Amino acid sequence: MTILDGKKVSNDIKNEIAAEVQKMKDNGEKVPHLAAVIVGEDGASLTYVGSKVRSCERVGFESTMICLPHTTSEEELLRKIKELNENDDIDGFIIQLPLPPQIDTQKVLMAVDPSKDVDGFHPENFGKLALDMSTFIPATPFGILELLARYKVETKGKHTVVIGRSHIVGRPMSILMSRKGWPGDSTVTLTHSNTKDIAQITSQADIIISALGVPNFLTAEMVKDDVVIIDVGITRVPDDSSPKGYVITGDVDFENVSKKASFITPVPGGVGPMTIAMLLKNTLLARVQRKI
Ligand code: GUN
Repeated sequence: MTILDGKKVSNDIKNEIAAEVQKMKDNGEKVPHLAAVIVGEDGASLTYVGSKVRSCERVGFESTMICLPHTTSEEELLRKIKELNENDDIDGFIIQLPLPPQIDTQKVLMAVDPSKDVDGFHPENFGKLALDMSTFIPATPFGILELLARYKVETKGKHTVVIGRSHIVGRPMSILMSRKGWPGDSTVTLTHSNTKDIAQITSQADIIISALGVPNFLTAEMVKDDVVIIDVGITRVPDDSSPKGYVITGDVDFENVSKKASFITPVPGGVGPMTIAMLLKNTLLARVQRKI
């Protein structure tokens, strides 16, 4: 069994990006600038955005964090997005999700200039992804592809089962794994809350990508020997013995499933750190493509 070490690989990628940024600086070029907008005070979202901003500093990017109150109206947020679209100093920006209920998420994501949409959530970019065109691949699916590639995991002709059909992970992942090329060329089954007898499907999977958010959902009885496991779940489970009062728990019963797996991502330290590294990679790409 091999651990797919997202912490190590993401560090390697950050070092590669930092070297690119150093070259830009040496040539007197502008360095990439990422902005992140967060609406409200959700603890998990603040943690993620904080890590994204710190990672920017680590690789030499400029970064701007914009915190808006949870009472922000849709109109106010759309105005902020227009400002970021028009600001030549900003190469890419993200709107951290979820947004408060008074804001229409789809309307907001459609307002982002596709050339600055480093999350890859705009319909134009998502459409390009589905058509095998070059675009910003959403950071979590992009991170999973990169992990599979760097550990040389065979995906061609394999049965990949994706659990969860979210716009951020499950849906794009199902498209990417069925694309021509590597990683890809898989036969994909996309399962979701209305799937009947999921255990019967997962037990036939060569590769399982779980993005459900239900701690320890996938058990050893649900998988076959030598399965490849990608665990995207990051749920905060209350735990009084932990200093933070919670532990981050994945969708997979790691202790028992790892005994049957050929490759498996840990939680934490698997997919999570890869997401941030690939957001940085998309921001670097946005900078290179803008050339202003
Ligand atoms: N919320 C959970 N994951 C993500 C992500 O990848 N990007 C943004 N913007 N919000 C998220």
